[in-house]
Amino acid sequence: MKLPNLTEARKRTSKEVEHIYLDEHYDQNTFKGQKYFLRTYGCQMNVHDGEEIAARLESLGFRPTEKLEDADIVILNTCAIRENAHDKLYGFLGRCKHAKKDNKDLIIGICGCMAQEENVVKELMEKHPYVDIVFGTHNIHELQDLILNRTSKQDISVYSCEGEVYENIAYKRDSNIKAWVNIQYGCDKFCTYCIVPYTRGKQRSRKSKEIISEVENLVKDGYQEVTLLGQNVNAYGKDLTDELSFAELLKAVAETKIPRIRFVTSHPWDFTDEMIEVIAKYPNIMPYIHLPLQSGSSRILKLMGRRYTKEEYLKLFNKIKSTIPNVAVTTDIIVGFPNETDEDFAETLDVVNTCKFDSAFTFIFSPREGTPAARMEDKIEMHTKEERLQKLNELVNSYSLAANQKYVGKVVPVLIEGISEKDKNKVFGYTDTMKLVNVSNGQDKIGKIVDVCITDAKSFSLDGEINN
Ligand code: SAH
Ligand code: SF4
Ligand code: F3S
Repeated sequence: MKLPNLTEARKRTSKEVEHIYLDEHYDQNTFKGQKYFLRTYGCQMNVHDGEEIAARLESLGFRPTEKLEDADIVILNTCAIRENAHDKLYGFLGRCKHAKKDNKDLIIGICGCMAQEENVVKELMEKHPYVDIVFGTHNIHELQDLILNRTSKQDISVYSCEGEVYENIAYKRDSNIKAWVNIQYGCDKFCTYCIVPYTRGKQRSRKSKEIISEVENLVKDGYQEVTLLGQNVNAYGKDLTDELSFAELLKAVAETKIPRIRFVTSHPWDFTDEMIEVIAKYPNIMPYIHLPLQSGSSRILKLMGRRYTKEEYLKLFNKIKSTIPNVAVTTDIIVGFPNETDEDFAETLDVVNTCKFDSAFTFIFSPREGTPAARMEDKIEMHTKEERLQKLNELVNSYSLAANQKYVGKVVPVLIEGISEKDKNKVFGYTDTMKLVNVSNGQDKIGKIVDVCITDAKSFSLDGEINN
């Protein structure tokens, strides 16, 4: 069997693919009455890609279903960040294979970051021939054509390299209150443990004029919040000439008067004083920063290729805390990087004790094939890594609870997003500092920013009441 050419990029001009963004190009009657089941794993970027995939499926007439068994097409939008991604993919494929026994016309599609991994594509070709289409993160724009022109064999479209940045993409947004806005694609940082630069390609920033116009349209449509998306948002524009810096872009987005602006993820290395000043100055830029630490040990940070030391991180953290009023800072931490010693781990705990993060996502290092860290010899046993993770989680959660408890008795603005899933009598929303609040009244306030009195605090959420 011959592998598709994954090593050579097939470049196209945006002119050639322009037409497929226009829904009218496709006939919505093609799959009228048929249903799609879309499952997305991974980060916000993948979630936003899912919104594009949904729009493309709907342009052909498919409508959504929550039940795989009812679907005529199933798409799995995968994430490759950790090893367990494989279990999720192959578990899901088992269900699809079963469903195809009952419905032999079922179309099965695999996309997302795992579809960019050569070994995964090879395995899908060799062991899962019932998968009909496979498309990579650079090929989402081909989805309709892939479905319409599919053959009786497996159809694979994966470019190893990124192409151009496409504009005027249609999205079926999950919310009419808050929206994701891509400001850049890919990542140039190549942290030694991370697969993202391989699955998403090199950094490509969108033109600021396109970003602003997208946000202006969201404002016209009544959106209350935008989250600017990128793997390394504060490196925005560095790959373009004559483009705004991230701080300048933030300013320009703030001038659109969208009520709330968030952004993920910032890299400590690209954080500037100008950014801190802009965030502090504009009330519609939320005082919330996700600032991944990864490790508190300068030795490990160097091996990770993170480009900052423990001391530099702490200096930046202190500057952010002392300049932006009431700012909340959250982080990501990896334990068990190859040969992380007890002393290295103690440095991580030390940073957590100093910064008292509002919350943290914590992970055990997972070797990803093709990354430099996966080739490093590692003498640390898994049970040691698990113990470290548990210890770290206990510490991190105690600070989350302490940070949340400070809210009790205060009145804070909350953007109410919808009915709470756990309790239909409640609504939920987020504070400007990104804390989840379950509110006991206010069903008529969905889509509005209202003052909420915080009555109770848990590690991962707050309870509150709207003051009438
Ligand atoms: N671009 C962002 C985050 C990307 S992935 C950043 O630079 O911070 C989200 C998080 O997953 C990372 O911050 C990191 O903590 C974690 N992660 C990435 N690769 C990992 C790996 N191989 N093993 C364990 N965790 C990993
Ligand atoms: Fe991965 Fe590092 Fe890029 Fe984040 S900055 S996506 S961790 S390579
Ligand atoms: Fe996963 Fe790809 Fe995002 S690997 S974390 S979905 S960029």
